[in-house]
Amino acid sequence: GERLDLRASKQRLLVVANRLPVSAVRHGEDSWQLEMSVGGLVTALLGVKEFDTRWIGWAGVNVPDEIGQKALAKALDEKRCIPVFLDEEVVHQYYNGYCNNILWPLFHYIGLPQEDRLATTRSFQSQFDAYKKANQLFADVVNEHYEEGDVVWCHDYHLMFLPKCLKERNSKMKVGWFLHTPFPSSEIHRMLPSRLELLRSVLAADLVGFHTYDYARHFVSACTRILGLEGTPEGVEDQGKLTRIAAFPVGIDSERFIKALELPEVQDHMKVLKQRFAGRKVMLGVDRLDMIKGIPQKILAFEKFLEENPNWRNKVVLLQIAVPTRTDVPEYQKLTSQVHEIVGRINGRFGSLTAVPIHHLDRSLDFHELCALYAVTDVALVTSLRDGMNLVSYEYVACQESKKGVLILSEFAGAAQSLGAGAILVNPWNVTEVASSIGYALNMPADEREKRHHHNFKHVISHTAQEWAATFVSELNVTIVEAQLRTRQ
Ligand code: ADP
Ligand code: F6P
Repeated sequence: GERLDLRASKQRLLVVANRLPVSAVRHGEDSWQLEMSVGGLVTALLGVKEFDTRWIGWAGVNVPDEIGQKALAKALDEKRCIPVFLDEEVVHQYYNGYCNNILWPLFHYIGLPQEDRLATTRSFQSQFDAYKKANQLFADVVNEHYEEGDVVWCHDYHLMFLPKCLKERNSKMKVGWFLHTPFPSSEIHRMLPSRLELLRSVLAADLVGFHTYDYARHFVSACTRILGLEGTPEGVEDQGKLTRIAAFPVGIDSERFIKALELPEVQDHMKVLKQRFAGRKVMLGVDRLDMIKGIPQKILAFEKFLEENPNWRNKVVLLQIAVPTRTDVPEYQKLTSQVHEIVGRINGRFGSLTAVPIHHLDRSLDFHELCALYAVTDVALVTSLRDGMNLVSYEYVACQESKKGVLILSEFAGAAQSLGAGAILVNPWNVTEVASSIGYALNMPADEREKRHHHNFKHVISHTAQEWAATFVSELNVTIVEAQLRTRQ
């Protein structure tokens, strides 16, 4: 009874995101194994504890039959997750197509895919139709589970059509939408054939949030320039209806990382790693194997460093842990072979019978292994070509209280705005600059490392995921009360 009362006193929060915190992997007929999902969105939202939260999202697997769907829904229910079932064709057109081949590259300034520029508008249109259909299916599930007073928090570029779908069904629903990627300059956004419809649907939300002030400003510019609406200091106004727009920089659950470092299994991993790389400095890259992470550029910069600094050749190693992601999208397949080719070439060039300069793993690490790696490495290399925030940089800082390693960070990651003073900021496209920053980081005196680390650590422990979510939800509540007062006046 007591536990239930406690729950009841918390505000109910429906988190709606394409990706659930666990993804189902089929094991036999109607049995699944639930695996932790990888990505910044999941990391951030798992740090949110203050609410009575339910997740609604795609199960990550195709389950065509009703019996199977019921079985999986039951397994997910134990994790407070509610699945949205999407058939294979919808996933292909919505997730692989419109989300990850069109919106994702466009929002990261890579542009629209060539083939779509040349192809008939039909293929683009059919992907957008699938996107809208998928968003409607998410709305159906939200409606089914919604209770009056719930806060419905929609996430990311997969669900830009969702605020409109929800408000059309129930105008009283409290709806927020948060984007985990950059929102690009309005000149980039206007290339999108469905630019008007997407902006209008997002504006149906009561509160729209971004990681940085720049992304929020780009979104407001898109609304004023492309839709011709009026921007106000609070957001965007359309025929008397105000949509609040603001920046809410995400963080991590820093305590979870700091505490993990004390665990015996993490300490054991640390010991093994230290022995394995004794006598050498270790640089670390942890990324989804994604075109925005600048992995080839990072590896080429490391090659240049080795080329120019022969004295370092057997004394430094780069560990690049790149978990495969969105593997059905051709661009991602190309990237994988490109990275493998470069790594092979450099290891062939600079390796010896006993050691290679680059260890590249195509896999994800479990939490304990990851914490150990963060803690024992000397330098982290985050070279995203664009990145909404980048939480890997936060995680590295959280685990470096004793070693005080150096963070080399792309100026094109949202995190550059918060960790810029402590990190070495680089332009990832400038291989010469990144190579010389590697040298600078490896030679940095202890007092400078300590000062830089201290600056970043203070930020990471005081801007947590919990605080991010609490601020967003309280702002959403306030926005709604203010809107009610305005309509009464
Ligand atoms: P994104 O959301 O684009 O993936 P972020 O850096 O914000 O980028 O978040 C990535 C999250 O995924 C982090 O929490 C990180 O720990 C996790 N992650 C990324 N790559 C790996 C990997 N190879 N193994 C384990 N976790 C990973
Ligand atoms: O944080 C950015 C993000 O795109 C999330 O939206 C997503 O969950 C994550 O990266 C991983 O990608 P995916 O869900 O496509 O596996």
